[in-house]
Parts: sequence; C-alpha cells; structure tokens
Amino acid sequence: MEIHRFEKLWVALALLLIVGFIGTVTYGAVGAGVKMVDDSGGTVDPNALNDHPRFGEPGTYQTGENEYDVYVISRQFLFEPGTNEPIRVPAGSTVTFHITSSDVIHGFEVAGTNVNTMAIPGQVARVTVQFEETRNYGIICHEYCGAAHHTMEGQLQVVPQSEFSSADLQNPAVADRDEPVNDVDEEETE
Ligand code: CUA
Repeated sequence: MEIHRFEKLWVALALLLIVGFIGTVTYGAVGAGVKMVDDSGGTVDPNALNDHPRFGEPGTYQTGENEYDVYVISRQFLFEPGTNEPIRVPAGSTVTFHITSSDVIHGFEVAGTNVNTMAIPGQVARVTVQFEETRNYGIICHEYCGAAHHTMEGQLQVVPQSEFSSADLQNPAVADRDEPVNDVDEEETE
C-alpha cells in the first residue's frame, strides 16, 4: 500500500504528540515531587499536642550535624512558631518540616519555595528542603480556615551559620554533642 509521504509525516507527528502527552502526564504524576498529604509523616492526637515529645514544644530541633527538624502547629489563626516568633534555621542546612493542626485544616506554604502542604488535624505533613541562601521567607495559610484566614501568616528566617545558636533550638544540648540524636517517631499518643 502506498502512503503519501505527507500522510506519513502527519501520522508521525500525531504519534509524537501522543507520546508527548503521556510523557507530561507521567512527569506531573511522579517526576515533579508532588504528592498528597498522607500518613507517611505519622499521625498525632490533635487534642493532646501538649503531650507530644516535639509538638509539645514546637520549634527547631537539631537532628544531625547540619540537619534540623522544625515542628509547627497551625491553629486559628497563627503558626506556632512562625507568627508570634519567626522560625529560624541556619543557611546551608537540610530542614524537615513537620506540620500539623490543632483545630481545622490549614495550609502551610513557605512563599517562594516548593514547601507547600496542607496542615490536617491528626496528620503530620512532612516536607524536607534545603535552604542555601540567607533570606527571610513569608509563610502563608492557603486553606480557608475561618474568619481571619487572610491574616494567618508567619515568617521563616534563614540566617548565617554564625548567627544561629543553641538559643534557636528546642534541644540546645544536642548542639554540643558529637552524636546526633535520633529522631522521635510520631505515633498516636492516645
Ligand atoms: Cu489557617 Cu487559613
């Protein structure tokens, strides 16, 4: 059967387009690092956050030489820490945020980064990010959470290593230790 070369060309282009569509859909699903909030970060009793080993004293914990865990509670209408006092981490560090909520669903977005998750009561959202440059970031709640949702914001300060001290840590003793302390597993505290 004779196929005209223009027809072959269009068949090839159409096939290429289909492959391209499948490629972009696949990339969007698995390649871009986008995922739903699930229980991989652990669960927590939203009514007993005070008793939790980390959410009881939310803030920055050192877990390794240049690794930090930041525990943040979202509540109407503030981030704790973040709103009344900024979250502080040193530049050049690897930071894992553990975000939960004590009341309704909130959002937690560090503007200008890909840290962007929901804060769901009972669930701990875990996001790891590296901060290279020294700068301040705004934190915003992007899920409607009540009358003052639009005021719910906070600040993250990425400071030079020289300006970061044990006073910025919830577990200052660890900074003086050689051995990094093991992370606490979040489990249900009921
Ligand atoms: Cu919290 Cu909107």
